[in-house]
Amino acid sequence: MTLVIHPRFSNLYQVSHPLILHKLSQLRECNTSKKEFKELLQEITQLLVYEATKDLPLITSEIKTPLETIQAPILKGKKPVILPILRAGLGMVDGFLSLIPSARVGHIGLYRNEKTLQPELYYFKIPKDSQERHVFICDPMLATGGSVSKAILCLKERGVTKISFLCIVAAPEGAEKLWKEHPDVKIFTAHLDRKLNEHGYILPGLGDAGDRLFGTR
Ligand code: PRP
Ligand code: URA
Repeated sequence: MTLVIHPRFSNLYQVSHPLILHKLSQLRECNTSKKEFKELLQEITQLLVYEATKDLPLITSEIKTPLETIQAPILKGKKPVILPILRAGLGMVDGFLSLIPSARVGHIGLYRNEKTLQPELYYFKIPKDSQERHVFICDPMLATGGSVSKAILCLKERGVTKISFLCIVAAPEGAEKLWKEHPDVKIFTAHLDRKLNEHGYILPGLGDAGDRLFGTR
């Protein structure tokens, strides 16, 4: 797995691996079925989580193997929080939980106003002690960056300082916004795409992630 730090956006990490690239191509393909889309989203998320969690701190704890007692490394501190942005972020939760089953799951409901492209907040629920945890925001799409920027503000208002963002596809416009507004938040993406079109869709992108995941096209 290669982690490429973008030369312009110092908080953007493109996680590069032949399996990620292969699965991303299948995800983009417009004839990919709803079932395959869901599975691919989970699989790519697992591969991103592997990289995005590699700095989680460890402590040692005494464990007994069938043969002897040793000091063994375990994750330190409170369990991380997964924060999917509804709706499409929900498609990344199971992939994340398959690697960290004890992670807490918050929810933030945001939708883009189709005309203004501004995010509208309609739901927010995270564990009360989230300021003591690392929060991993999940959303397949970073387009203008309005939605995730709003999610980050909601977290910061509640005292959360350890925040990362996992997305499948990023547009340079959204990456630039996050780099300017939240340079402290690391972004892990499978690919930085070319640009946004006039309707705020990512090119080449994969279309409307929520509609493809839930079959509401
Ligand atoms: C999509 C996507 C992101 C957002 C990205 O959601 O899942 O949340 O757009 O765009 P932005 O970076 O310009 O804010 P959408 O608003 O379409 O809602 P949905 O998931 O309910 O369909
Ligand atoms: N939201 C999506 O689902 N797709 C895009 O290309 C942009 C925003």
